[in-house]
Amino acid sequence: MGINHLSRTLLVAAVSSFCFASVEGALKSPPPEKSSKSTFTYDELWNLEKGFWDSFLYPANLKQTQGNKSTVFASDVQGRVDITRTFDGDELNREYIFGLFADPTHVSLVGVPVNYSITQFAANDRIASATTIVTFNATTIVTFNATTFDVLVPVTIDTWIEFNEDGKIAQYDAIFRWFEYLLDTLIEATAIKIKATSTDQAVAYVADVLAKTICNTHEQYCTGSNKQYADTGTCYDHLTQSIRFGKSYELGRNTLLCREVHEHMVQYRPDVHCPHIGPSGGGYCVDDMNYTQTVLQRYFNDSWIPFGYGQSQDIWLQG
Ligand SMILES: *[C@@H]1O[C@H](CO)[C@@H](O)[C@H](O)[C@H]1NC(C)=O
Ligand SMILES: *[C@@H]1O[C@H](CO)[C@@H](O)[C@H](O)[C@H]1NC(C)=O
Ligand SMILES: *[C@@H]1O[C@H](CO)[C@@H](O)[C@H](O)[C@H]1NC(C)=O
Ligand SMILES: *[C@@H]1O[C@H](CO)[C@@H](O)[C@H](O)[C@H]1NC(C)=O
Ligand SMILES: *[C@@H]1O[C@H](CO)[C@@H](O)[C@H](O)[C@H]1NC(C)=O
Ligand SMILES: *[C@@H]1O[C@H](CO)[C@@H](O)[C@H](O)[C@H]1NC(C)=O
Repeated sequence: MGINHLSRTLLVAAVSSFCFASVEGALKSPPPEKSSKSTFTYDELWNLEKGFWDSFLYPANLKQTQGNKSTVFASDVQGRVDITRTFDGDELNREYIFGLFADPTHVSLVGVPVNYSITQFAANDRIASATTIVTFNATTIVTFNATTFDVLVPVTIDTWIEFNEDGKIAQYDAIFRWFEYLLDTLIEATAIKIKATSTDQAVAYVADVLAKTICNTHEQYCTGSNKQYADTGTCYDHLTQSIRFGKSYELGRNTLLCREVHEHMVQYRPDVHCPHIGPSGGGYCVDDMNYTQTVLQRYFNDSWIPFGYGQSQDIWLQG
C-alpha cells in the first residue's frame, strides 16, 4: 500500500468518523435499534474486501473448493445473486462462488477470473459495499471446437458484504451490473465466430454446446439414484426443447442457463446437484417466484444498514 493511498485511507476514515459524530450529535438522532457486536475500521474492511477478491481469482479459488471448512465464509453464510437466487451455507457457497469459475478447460459462460479492479468502495461497521470489475478469461465459450484465441471479458459485480467478528463473510448480496449487455455480447461474439446469419442461430449454437456439456456431466456423475434422464438423447431434447434458454435474469429459474450454472457443481456433490440439472430443477432451477416475490423476498437475517439503523422499516429482513 503506497503512502498516498494509506494517508488517503486514514483521511477518509478520520473525516467520516468526524462527520458521523457531528451529524449524529447535531441531529440528535435516535439510538440504533440494535448495536452491532463488533465493528471494523475502514482499513480492515478494505483488506477483508481485497482478501475476498484475491481468493476469488483463478487459481487461488481452487483452494477454496477443497477441504471442508471455509476460510472465507461463515458456516451459516447467507448469499444472494440477483441473476440467480439465494444460497445458504458454507459448502454450497464455496461450490457456487469458487467452484463455478475454477476450471479453465471446461465450457462455461465467462471462463475463469484472472484479475480485478475495485472501482467503488464504501464501508462501515461490519458492512462493505463495492463495485469490482473482474476480468474473466473466457477462452472456452468461443473455442467450442478447440480453436483457441483469448477473449478477456470484463464483468462488473456490485457487492454488499457483511463480515462476522472473525472476518468471515456472514452475508453477501451480489449484483451483476450490465449482465444483459454481457450475455448479448457473448452471443454476438459467438455469432461472428460461427458466421451465423441471425441471433437465434447463435443462441441455438450456444444451447447445443451447453446441452451437450450438461448431458455429458449427467452421464458421468448422475448415476444410480442420482440419474435424472433416461438417456443422453432425452437429456438433450429436454434441455434444448422443453425448457427456455433463459433470459439474463433467469439463471435461477427453469432454464438451460440455470442448468449450465449448476452443471459445474455436480462433480462436487452429485447427490445434491444432479437434481438441479434434471427436469425438476431440484428447487434451484424452478419458476417458483415471480418478479414481485423476488424483489420483496424477506431473506436476510442481518440488516444491510450499518450500526443497526432503520431495521423496523427494512422489508428484506426475515421474520
Ligand atoms: C474435514 O477435514 C478434517 C481435516 O482435514 C478431517 O479430519 C475431517 O474428517 C473432515 N470432515 C469431513 C466431514 O469431511
Ligand atoms: C436466520 O434466522 C432464521 C430464523 O430465525 C434461523 O432459522 C436461521 O438459522 C438464521 N440464519 C442465520 C444464517 O443466522
Ligand atoms: C486485467 O488484465 C488485462 C490484461 O493484462 C487488462 O487488460 C485489464 O485491464 C485488467 N483488468 C482489470 C479489471 O484489472
Ligand atoms: C486465457 O486462457 C488461455 C487458455 O487457457 C491461456 O492460454 C491464456 O494465457 C489465458 N490468458 C490470461 C490473460 O490469463
Ligand atoms: C465445429 O465442429 C463441428 C464438427 O466437427 C462442425 O460441424 C461445426 O461446423 C464446427 N463449428 C465451427 C464454428 O467451426
Ligand atoms: C406473484 O405471485 C403472488 C403470489 O402468488 C401474487 O399474489 C402476485 O399477484 C404475483 N405477481 C405478479 C406480478 O404476477
